[in-house]
Amino acid sequence: MREIGKNKFSEHGDVEISEIGNGIYRISGFDDAFGITFNQFLIDDEQPTLIHTGPFGMYKKIEEKVKEVIPLQKLTYVAFLHFESDEWGGMAFLDSADARLVCSDLSSKLNLTGWYNIPVDHISFWDNETLKTGKRIFKFIMTPHVHHWDSMMIFEETTRLLFPSDLFIQPGNNKPVIEEDLSDKMLALYRGAGIFASEWPVRQTSKRLESLSPKMIFPMHGSCIDGSVFSKYTDAILNNKFAYSDVLLGQKLERVS
Ligand SMILES: [Fe+2]
Ligand SMILES: [Fe+2]
Repeated sequence: MREIGKNKFSEHGDVEISEIGNGIYRISGFDDAFGITFNQFLIDDEQPTLIHTGPFGMYKKIEEKVKEVIPLQKLTYVAFLHFESDEWGGMAFLDSADARLVCSDLSSKLNLTGWYNIPVDHISFWDNETLKTGKRIFKFIMTPHVHHWDSMMIFEETTRLLFPSDLFIQPGNNKPVIEEDLSDKMLALYRGAGIFASEWPVRQTSKRLESLSPKMIFPMHGSCIDGSVFSKYTDAILNNKFAYSDVLLGQKLERVS
């Protein structure tokens, strides 16, 4: 048995902000316990959008970084891409602004209705539906069973930017953008964490994402990946095993034979 307090994520450690592209900011904090960064992405358009909020323990530091770019009252959309605390633990963003919560249609039906203490006010999207935030257009890509049943990704159509959540992640605390092939480390992380039940849906999604020819990929953990090396990561997914095999967050679960 493990007794866990309200906030299991570290509050120490720096959260950094860097502008990756025109008005696109990566807000990243490293968590020693997990050995990964937690990255949030702020898109400063006419209607500014924050993609994931980080775990609650990082909330104050992430909020400070958002406020370096825009007043909090300007934040219009807060998107989470699947139901996990690192995706939307910092939903206090919704208290301080006119921000609307954005999620997949599955997240809406499965995880945002029917609870005692979860906000029901949100906007949900089905596959290929779009949201215009000013100059930018977000297309929603449903990716069921790529990690979770309700998972989705976002593709920004005007400049071909991909926000794939927990796909194409890498461990460690590297620079904001890489042109290196860290796919071996990505696969080792997946094998050690056990986040994909099966390779099949992940491979189908990877093929679809490759066909979009993204110019920059913005994973939730690790560095942003320049589009010139994206095929290294999709090839690694297509040609290697990485699905769950009795290991969860580094711990072996004994199989009943
Ligand atoms: Fe996740
Ligand atoms: Fe994540």
